[in-house]
Amino acid sequence: MNAQHRKTSGAYYTPDAVVATLLQWAVRDPADRLLDPSCGDGRFIAGHQNAVGIEQDPAAVGTAISRAPWALVHEGDLFAWAANTSERFECAAGNPPFIRYQTFKGAARERALELCQRLGAKFSGLTSSWAPFLVATASLLKPDGRMAFVVPAEIGHAPYASPLLEYLVGNFGHVHVIAVKGKLFPDLSEDCWLLYADGFGGTTASFLFSAVEQFKPGGRPPRSGVRVSVSEWRSRWNRRLRPFLAHPDARALYEEIAFDPHSRRLGDVASVGIGYVSGANDFFHLRPSEAERHEIPSDLLQPSVRNGRALPAGSLTRAIVRNWERQDEPMLLLRLSKDQKLPASVRRYLDTEAGREAREAYKCRVRDPWFAVPDVQIPDFFLTYMSGRAANLVRNAAGCTCTNSLHAVRVRDKTAMIEIVRSWSTPFTQLSCEFEGHPLGGGMLKLEPREAAQIVVSAPSRAKQLSSPIFSKAVETMQHWRHYAAIQ
Ligand SMILES: C[S@@+](CC[C@H](N)C(=O)[O-])C[C@H]1O[C@@H](n2cnc3c(N)ncnc32)[C@H](O)[C@@H]1O
Repeated sequence: MNAQHRKTSGAYYTPDAVVATLLQWAVRDPADRLLDPSCGDGRFIAGHQNAVGIEQDPAAVGTAISRAPWALVHEGDLFAWAANTSERFECAAGNPPFIRYQTFKGAARERALELCQRLGAKFSGLTSSWAPFLVATASLLKPDGRMAFVVPAEIGHAPYASPLLEYLVGNFGHVHVIAVKGKLFPDLSEDCWLLYADGFGGTTASFLFSAVEQFKPGGRPPRSGVRVSVSEWRSRWNRRLRPFLAHPDARALYEEIAFDPHSRRLGDVASVGIGYVSGANDFFHLRPSEAERHEIPSDLLQPSVRNGRALPAGSLTRAIVRNWERQDEPMLLLRLSKDQKLPASVRRYLDTEAGREAREAYKCRVRDPWFAVPDVQIPDFFLTYMSGRAANLVRNAAGCTCTNSLHAVRVRDKTAMIEIVRSWSTPFTQLSCEFEGHPLGGGMLKLEPREAAQIVVSAPSRAKQLSSPIFSKAVETMQHWRHYAAIQ
C-alpha cells in the first residue's frame, strides 16, 4: 500500500503484542462476540473465534478473510453498517482509522456525524475520523459490553476528542485512558495511547488516567492512575487529559494560581492572531539588494519577521533589523494596498516572470487584487507558533510585521501586559503554555491562537510562587512527553 493511500484510509496496522493485549482484556468468554469496526488485514479478528470485522478496503477484506476464515467480514463503511444493523456485541477491539478532517469529508463524514448526533455525540466538521468511529462502535455493544482501542494521543488535548470523551463517560461505567510515551507505531510521528471502556449502558463521574513510559504486553491495563473528575476536567482543564501527565502537586499549585480571582488569561488582555499569508513568500519578500535593483520605493517595503527562529529573546530591536538588512536577508515585505497607485517600478516587478508565477498561486488567485497581501499588521509582540524548549514572547520594538508562522499579539491592557512580560520565562508560564498548547510531533510545542489566548496571566500577588521547582519539574515532564529531548 503506498503512503498516500495509507494516509487517506488511515491504514496503519497494529503490532501483534498490542493486538493480543487488547483482545486479552476485551474478550472474557469464548462465546463473546467481538467486533473490529475497521479490521484491516484481520489481525484482531484472527485472535478470536467469534468475531465480526468491518472494512472498506476490498484488498484488506480479502486478506482478513484468509487470515480468519471463521469470521464474518463485511466490506463497506462502518457508519453505513452501524446505522442499519441490529447486531450487538459483547466486546469490540481494534485501531480506528486516523483520517484528518481535511480528508475525512463528503458523504462519508456526513453519514458519520449524523449517526453520532443521533447517538448524542455532536462532532464538528473539524473532527478526525477515529473519534466518531469509536462512538459508532460503542453503540453496537450489548449492555455491560466493553471495548479496547488504540487511539491517537490527541485524545488528551484535541477539542474534537471531547464529544467522544463526553459520550464515553455518559455511556460506560468505567473509562480508562492510558498514555504511552514510547512509540506503539515506530513509523508514525504521532503518539498513540490506549482506551479501555467497560460497562456499556452505565455512566461514570470520573476517568481513570494512567501514564506509562513503554507499552507493556499483558492482559491487564495498569491499575494505578489518577482519578480525573469529569466535572473538573470540564470546568478547570478545558476538557483536556494531558495536564494529568504532570505531578498532582504541580497541578494543585497551578490550579490555585490559575483560578485566583485576580489571575486572567492572555486572551483577556490581548488579542492573539496569526500573521499574514502572502501566498508566494519568495516573490513578496525581497532582499534589500533586490529591492534596490527593482527600484521599489522604501515606503512600500515593510520589514517582516518570517519565522520564529529569527527572533531574539525579549525584544526585537531596530538594531537587530538593521543587521538583517546588512546581511541582505529576504525580509522586506512588498506591502501594497488594494487601491494602491502603483509606481512604474512596482508594475515592472509585478510583471516579471516571478510575478506572473506568483499570481497563479492559490492565495493570490483568490484575492483581488492579487498583489495586495491582506492582514498585514504591526503587532505589539510576537509569539512563537511552534516552539522547541519554550514558546517565545518578544516585544516588537522595531515596527516589524510577521507572517503566519508567528502569532501577532496586540495588547489591550498595558498594565496586565507588563505582568505577562515579567512572568513570561517563569516555570509557571512555561507550564501554562505546555498545558494549553499541544505537541506537534518531532518534539515541538504548538500553540494555536485559541490555545495561546488561554495562557494564564497570574495575579501579581502570586509572583513569588511562579518559580517554584514544582513547576520546573512539571515543565520537564511535559517536555519529556512531547519528546523534546529528541530535538536537543
Ligand atoms: C488503523 S487501520 C486498523 C486496521 C486493523 N484494525 C489493525 O489494527 O491493524 C484502519 C482501517 O480502517 C479502514 N477504514 C477506514 N475508513 C473506514 C470506514 N469508514 N469503514 C470501515 N473501515 C474503514 C482502513 O481501510 C484501515 O484498514
